[in-house]
Amino acid sequence: MQSNDGKPSVVILISGTGSNMAKIVEMALQNEISAEISAVISNESNAPGIQYAKQQGISTQVVDHSSHETRSLFEKHLMRAIDEYQPDLVVLAGFMRILGAEFVRHYRGKMLNIHPSLLPKYQGLNTHQRALDAGDDQHGCTVHFVTEELDGGPSVIQASVSVEQGDTAETLKAKVQQKEHVIYPIAVKWFTEGRINMDGMGNVLFDGSPLPLQGVQLEP
Ligand code: GAR
Repeated sequence: MQSNDGKPSVVILISGTGSNMAKIVEMALQNEISAEISAVISNESNAPGIQYAKQQGISTQVVDHSSHETRSLFEKHLMRAIDEYQPDLVVLAGFMRILGAEFVRHYRGKMLNIHPSLLPKYQGLNTHQRALDAGDDQHGCTVHFVTEELDGGPSVIQASVSVEQGDTAETLKAKVQQKEHVIYPIAVKWFTEGRINMDGMGNVLFDGSPLPLQGVQLEP
């Protein structure tokens, strides 16, 4: 796991604000994560996160899904863009496109995603509203390895928040995002230090030992 200066290479994919990406970049620049953020790639040309990455001196690219006729062409182009940087890890940070089997297999064991729910609950969209509608008293976020099942790959780490009286989808989102900014850098750090990996059976190993199904639970 090496890039030019001996640090693992990480490519981050975004679609929007990029607050998770920014947190990971910040920690890498402060050497709290020993990784080189080789590039930030967006499928949306006006994603605000792209501006932030540029300001940090990071290579950026836009691979616009809407200018490709098929998903498969888009993904081929995206893969080519990512592979230019020979990443050891691909980080999906609010990347809002569903990825096909070939793409996912190409990065098997080296692609992480963050999802705003306590997986396996609420795969897919509108997770905060769904947690509210279900009357849950706990909600949260999960970092997981990406497999062919949407939001279905094995978990690395989860953090919970309490759902309180008066919470709305917006207030919950804000609370959950605060936790996302804690757990995603931790997961990236573990990966780039070689502490976590996904084995051939799709189990996550932490320092060589299998993790429970829902991953490490961050203490409140
Ligand atoms: C994050 O809250 C992340 O959990 C969510 O998008 C947001 C992106 O925020 N991801 C998904 O819903 C993926 N299914 P950010 O651009 O500020 O990091």
